[in-house]
Amino acid sequence: MAKETKQSYQRYQCSYCKRVVEVRSQYDMPIIDANVGVCICKNCITDIYHFIEAHEHADSQQGGESFAGELDDLLTRNRPHIIKAYLDEYIINQDRAKKILAVAAYNHYKRMKYGYNNADGEEIEKSNVIMIGPSGCGKTALLSHLSKLLDIPFAVTDASSLTEAGFVGADVEVAVRNLYYAADKDISKAEHGIIYLDEFDKIARKSGANNSITADPGHEGVQQSLLKMLEGSMVEFAPRGQRKHPEAPTIKLDTKNILFIVGGAFVGIDKIIAKRLQKSDANIGFGAAVQGKDEKPKYDELIHKVRPEDLMEYGIIPEIIGRLPVICTLETLDEDALLRILTEPKNAPVKQYEKLLSMDNVELKFEEGALRAVAKEAIKRKTGARSLKGIIEDTMLDIMFDIPRTNEARKVIITEKCITDGQSPTIEPMALKKVG
Ligand SMILES: Nc1ncnc2c1ncn2[C@@H]1O[C@H](COP(=O)(O)OP(=O)(O)OP(=O)(O)O)[C@@H](O)[C@H]1O
Ligand SMILES: [Mg+2]
Repeated sequence: MAKETKQSYQRYQCSYCKRVVEVRSQYDMPIIDANVGVCICKNCITDIYHFIEAHEHADSQQGGESFAGELDDLLTRNRPHIIKAYLDEYIINQDRAKKILAVAAYNHYKRMKYGYNNADGEEIEKSNVIMIGPSGCGKTALLSHLSKLLDIPFAVTDASSLTEAGFVGADVEVAVRNLYYAADKDISKAEHGIIYLDEFDKIARKSGANNSITADPGHEGVQQSLLKMLEGSMVEFAPRGQRKHPEAPTIKLDTKNILFIVGGAFVGIDKIIAKRLQKSDANIGFGAAVQGKDEKPKYDELIHKVRPEDLMEYGIIPEIIGRLPVICTLETLDEDALLRILTEPKNAPVKQYEKLLSMDNVELKFEEGALRAVAKEAIKRKTGARSLKGIIEDTMLDIMFDIPRTNEARKVIITEKCITDGQSPTIEPMALKKVG
């Protein structure tokens, strides 16, 4: 036990991390045992605490075995049409994406069952998914609803926050760590979970396939680290809240059976696809025959023709693309779709405002023209369904501020002019209804 004295404080060396600590109170070095010559500093005790906390759950559960027993039941409850019907309650259109996700999740359960039950060593390969679609078309929303439905751990991680080890930001291991916590610290459950990497396009190499590696080391490094994870490797990470240092205890998790879904807007990929199509059209000699001279192919037509080489051109390394065999494209939402998004989903903005105002004794009504005006404005803003709520919020703010001044029962009608010209809504008195 190393002990040095300087001024009035004693200095002890932690037997674990070897740091010399000036001990002003017992808090700095909670364990000092002169008999056995051991000191442990408060940082190391914190690490040990986190490690024990992170593991105690896993140790107390039988994990894999009990989960395997539940699989038949899970398969029955998570058939593709059931998953799609659930997603239909929240997401408008995007039928193909819903089907792809439903099948991917169902097959994931089947792979698990096969893996637990067969002894011949054969494996059903997993089919990781890449989702591509314009901003605000429902990619993140789809996955967040799917995650609520499924009975397996599911973690969403924003890929744009990831950096290569050594750079400022979160290491790619964070995606696995999130899954571990989504699995309630049950390692065997987490090893069969689903990881969704959102904003995946943000880790593309800055200037596409032809850029040299040295010009963009950060993103290339993130992709390389992610590749290892996608291929299946033992990922080591520190529990949440623990400092990173070489001696810190870590948790290890095998990613071999984890299903990866990645998604992003891939802004500009339509131009890459158009360029490729133009080239191939020119090669086979009927260039303008497919499209009229001035007629530009639309985003949706192009995006459905995306091929792995376009993603490579965009700046995703080929090895990663090879590990994402299912390409799922989403469509742009048109005015009618936006109109339905306003009113139909279980958590539709209009339904939410109706509920809020009903608590103030108010019946809220949006006229059809008003809703259409909101949808039209959202199309102008080019951010898909994302701007809908903001546009309504502008109009609703004054109402939500003024209405609670009194408690009398009223009917509030939002007209088209309220949205387009900022006119005040029509407010009519109403006979008091019994609430509750
Ligand atoms: N098809 C849809 N049906 C219902 N709601 C939708 C749909 N698309 C988007 N929304 C709503 O619009 C908002 C933005 O959507 P979301 O975050 O899923 O967009 P995104 O596709 O992930 O876009 P980005 O690429 O910019 O991240 C969410 O609140 C979501 O509920
Ligand atoms: Mg998103």
